[in-house]
Amino acid sequence: MAKLAVCGGMPVRTREFPKWPVRDIREEEALIDVVRSGEWGIGSRAVAEFDKKFAEFLGAKYAISCTNGTDAISIGLQALGIRAGDEVILPPYTFMATSTATLAVNAVPIFVDIDPDTYNIDPDKIEEAITDRTRAIIPVHIAGNPVDMDRIMRVAKKYDLRVLEDSAQAHGARWAGKMAGTIGDVGAWSFQSSKNVTSGEGGATATNDEKIFDRLFSFQNCGRVRTGKWYEHHNMSGNHRLSAFQAAVLIVQLDRVEEYCVRREKNAAYLDSRLREIGGVEPTVMTPGATRHAYHLYIFRFNSEEFGGVSRNVFLKALQAEGVPCSEGYVPLYKLPLFQHLDESWPALNKVSARYMDYSKVSCPVCERVCREEAVWLTQNMLIGDQSDMDDIAEAVAKIKGNLGELRGVAE
Ligand SMILES: Cc1ncc(COP(=O)(O)O)c(C=O)c1O
Repeated sequence: MAKLAVCGGMPVRTREFPKWPVRDIREEEALIDVVRSGEWGIGSRAVAEFDKKFAEFLGAKYAISCTNGTDAISIGLQALGIRAGDEVILPPYTFMATSTATLAVNAVPIFVDIDPDTYNIDPDKIEEAITDRTRAIIPVHIAGNPVDMDRIMRVAKKYDLRVLEDSAQAHGARWAGKMAGTIGDVGAWSFQSSKNVTSGEGGATATNDEKIFDRLFSFQNCGRVRTGKWYEHHNMSGNHRLSAFQAAVLIVQLDRVEEYCVRREKNAAYLDSRLREIGGVEPTVMTPGATRHAYHLYIFRFNSEEFGGVSRNVFLKALQAEGVPCSEGYVPLYKLPLFQHLDESWPALNKVSARYMDYSKVSCPVCERVCREEAVWLTQNMLIGDQSDMDDIAEAVAKIKGNLGELRGVAE
């Protein structure tokens, strides 16, 4: 076996992985059209067209764009009537925005541990977290892997809870044939630059319920109402509108989703089989019942015992040195300084909400183990090339596994 790159050997790969975002002349032309039209914001055809096209893409009755995914969640929670002090159940294994968008409406994030195979919120653990203050659940389709929405909706129905699907990583993902984000009361998406559909920044919400849509519209647009006059403001909100430049880019990006979903799925399936042959690295599992994983991230589980007892972080160092960009991903959200010092980190926190919060006592053992020693993340752009890219990733992992003696000498 060749010497490990982290110990001075030749890396398996020196080529770069495909770059993101993918774009071509169509984005350029769409942007020029918007510039020339003079319709850059309110009332623009581009925004109206994107909202319509996004709803069609989702198979949802209504969709409305907004500034970003964080705002989409806050707008969605407000549209669902979530109030100060209401408890909202969500996983600790997600981007911080899922929780801060909840805090931003003065609701209380209640963290429920994740499933060790899928890394999504564990539906079995939701019921025990429900109190008489619980009002909503935010299932997050993490990495693009759909949450078991049948089970989420069953619990929600039993306890009369609203469901907001954080689909920021799940463009095109499907649960039982339906688009992720269209099964609960509201779906929320991000179009930030790393996302599988992007305009640099941006977001959207969608729903099948007209009354909820009216409220999404209002909270997105300065508290206006669809049938009201321009300076008639009914709800406390600000300007969370997307610009026509972003909408124009998104219209084009939507045309690529299907093709790129198929590529990622194909490459991920191949990489799954290659990694399984090596052993000690186990792909996370697509939730049984899901019909499409969007692979915003490809996450596999590192087993230190099978790698001679070296830590996940040493493995990451070695894999990076072999020319495979990878990372350890999230920390459990409740462990962030933000949650450990909420009084200082969120001075505007409503007293009604604050009285329930002591995040130093929260413990989600699966999430903690995953974050500390198990998860290895590859980003979605690495899956949009061809099979030889997957071969390089697998060969790099196999090379590390074949050089455990050398690996043990690598510093943390
Ligand atoms: C799961 C999840 N939720 C919410 C967000 C927030 O989206 P944005 O960055 O567009 O505000 C992101 C991504 O950034 C995310 O990955």
